[in-house]
Amino acid sequence: MRNTRFDIALLSGAGGAEISGVDVAQELDDGTIAEIRGALNDHCVVFFRDQELDAERHKAFARRFGEIFIHPNYVGMSDDPEILMVRREPGDTTYVGEDWHTDTTMWPEPPLGAILYGIDIPPYGGDTMFANQYLAYDALSAGMKKMLDGLRAVHSDILVAGPQAGKNKGRSTKHRDGPDWRETRTTHPVVRTHPETGRKMLFVNKSYTVGFEGMTEAESRPVLDFLFEHGNRPEFTFRFRWQKGSIAFWDNRSTKHIALGDTGPFRRLLRRVQVCGDRPV
Ligand code: SIN
Repeated sequence: MRNTRFDIALLSGAGGAEISGVDVAQELDDGTIAEIRGALNDHCVVFFRDQELDAERHKAFARRFGEIFIHPNYVGMSDDPEILMVRREPGDTTYVGEDWHTDTTMWPEPPLGAILYGIDIPPYGGDTMFANQYLAYDALSAGMKKMLDGLRAVHSDILVAGPQAGKNKGRSTKHRDGPDWRETRTTHPVVRTHPETGRKMLFVNKSYTVGFEGMTEAESRPVLDFLFEHGNRPEFTFRFRWQKGSIAFWDNRSTKHIALGDTGPFRRLLRRVQVCGDRPV
C-alpha cells in the first residue's frame, strides 16, 4: 500500500503497520510526520526496519510528535532522564514489560506513545506483542459497556516501582526503589475516547490499574481481572519480531503491550523514548 510519502504494509487484522522508505534519522518534512501520525492513529503501532539512530536522533524524531516524557520511576537511574535503556542480560529473572500493560498510566497525563529502538537483539525470542484496545472495547456486550460507562479506575505504580514492589532483584534495568520513592496515584475513565480518532477504547491494565473509584478492592477485582484478560484476547493482538535497527512506535492510548521473555541465553537491549500525552477523557 502506498501513502503519499512512503510504503506501508499491514502486519495483521488487529493492527500494526510497517513503514518503508523513510529514514527517521533525517530531518523529515511536516507532511511525512503527519502521515506517520495518521498511520499510528489508523494502525495503533508503526514499525520501521534498518534504521541507524543514535540517542540524539532518536530524541529528535520523538520530539516531532510532542515533548519527551521524563519517567518518574527511572529519573536519576541513568545519565539521560529522557531515555530508558530496556536491558535484559542473560540470567535476569525479571525484566521491563513482562506483563500486559499500557505505559505509565499512574500519571495524570500518560504518554501518548513510546518509540523503542532495537540495539542488541537475540537470534530468537524477545518479540513484543500488542493488543488493540479499540477492538477490545468494541467486542464487549452492550450490558458491560453500559456498566463501564462513566466508571473511573484507580491507577498506581505501587505494583511496579518503589521498595515494596521488589522488582529490581534479578533485573538489569532498575527503577527507583529508595526510601524517598512515593507512590503516584490517579484516576482515569475505564473507557477512554481517543483524542485524535474520537473512537472509544478500553483503558485498564494489569500493571497499573488497582481498582475502581468508589469501590473496594474485593468489589473491583473480579471485573478488573475479566477486563485485563479480555483486553489481551488473541484476536486483538499482533506480534513484532525485532531485528537490530528496528523501531516500534506504539500509540500508548489505544494499545497494551508485553515483551516476551523467551530470549534464552541471549542479551536483549533496546532504547526507549516516550512522548508526552494528554489527560484521558
Ligand atoms: C516496554 O514495556 O516498554 C518494553 C517493551 C519491550 O521491551 O518489548
